[in-house]
Amino acid sequence: MNSLERDNIFFQAEAVAWLRHRQPNWFLLCDTNTRLHCLPLFETLFGTVPNSRLIVMPAGEAHKQLETAEAIWRQLQLSGARRDSLLMNLGGGVVCDLGGFAAATWKRGIPFIHIPTTLMAQTDAAIGGKCALNFGGIKNQIGLIRQPEAVCILPDFLKSLPQQEIHAGFAEMLKHGIIADADLFRTLRQEDSRIPPDIVQIRRSVEIKMSFVRQDEEDRDVRKALNFGHSVGHLLEALAGGSLSHGKAVAYGMRAEANIAWRQGLLNTSDWEEITQCIQQHYGDTPAITCSREELVRLLSADKKSDAASLNFSLPTAIGQVRTNCPVSFDEVWVTLHS
Ligand SMILES: NC(=O)c1ccc[n+]([C@@H]2O[C@H](COP(=O)([O-])OP(=O)(O)OC[C@H]3O[C@@H](n4cnc5c(N)ncnc54)[C@H](O)[C@@H]3O)[C@@H](O)[C@H]2O)c1
Repeated sequence: MNSLERDNIFFQAEAVAWLRHRQPNWFLLCDTNTRLHCLPLFETLFGTVPNSRLIVMPAGEAHKQLETAEAIWRQLQLSGARRDSLLMNLGGGVVCDLGGFAAATWKRGIPFIHIPTTLMAQTDAAIGGKCALNFGGIKNQIGLIRQPEAVCILPDFLKSLPQQEIHAGFAEMLKHGIIADADLFRTLRQEDSRIPPDIVQIRRSVEIKMSFVRQDEEDRDVRKALNFGHSVGHLLEALAGGSLSHGKAVAYGMRAEANIAWRQGLLNTSDWEEITQCIQQHYGDTPAITCSREELVRLLSADKKSDAASLNFSLPTAIGQVRTNCPVSFDEVWVTLHS
């Protein structure tokens, strides 16, 4: 058994085998898109899903909210879900985050599994047990860390995924390369970021994420390395008000944070330029920032990764290496985004 199987993360045939032997009392959560595009493949592999077991939520980040969790709890209640019922989350990061949250809080927690259907979810959101919803206009404000019973990764689900969603998920894979594996980063750089990557690269990306999660499940220390690109990324996502995907925001966040690392003397010029060129090649220019400095301070302060006094970033010290708990001032972020 390899290390990912020990963590109950299965790929392809092993994933199919695991799902065939799941516990009998289950419910399946999907969104309106994965119902259309992914449920047919699921049913081909595992049999028809009766309506009484199917929970469908509206698609999109705007629905990663308490109201949607409430609707899921209501349907679980009406359908007679018990403490030993299993919730299967068939979808992207939104379905996995929200389904995980709804399951982890229903009757003080029922088991759940993720069947991620986007590149973002297969390489990141479904891995590591973070379940959250957005609140008060801020991402992931309410949530918890609860590991799924299993994560079953079937790359065939990616066949129906729109190109821009592959492109978004690709950013998290680049991040895994920048923080932990220079070879992965340099291989991905040469790839077309709009077509599904090879399963070997997806698997490597999952391994990297899990290597941080295993050391620090509660996100108190080394796991914070995975936040590279996300402090500025979440700011850009909030400012864009829904018009910028999480993946693209992280890509631009990585460019800004690599620039801060270079300005602080943590990252050498050649590695900083390589990261910058890669983001430019795959994602183009960072959208112009139109907010006031006060708004920037407010949004960055609301980020969970910061305390009241200072910003706390994870910054690359070379391609393939990262340092957590790097103090960063609001001015440094402001200057970087306006340079
Ligand atoms: N928990 C974590 O550790 C973690 C990590 C990274 C991201 N996230 C969260 O994940 C979310 C982003 O995830 P995402 O990019 O997967 O977004 P998403 O779940 O909104 O999926 C993107 C779009 O693709 C559709 N879709 C999903 N699978 C499809 C398929 N196979 N074919 C066709 N359409 C499909 C969805 O309906 C949606 O419209 C954000 O909320 C982010 O905060 C969480």
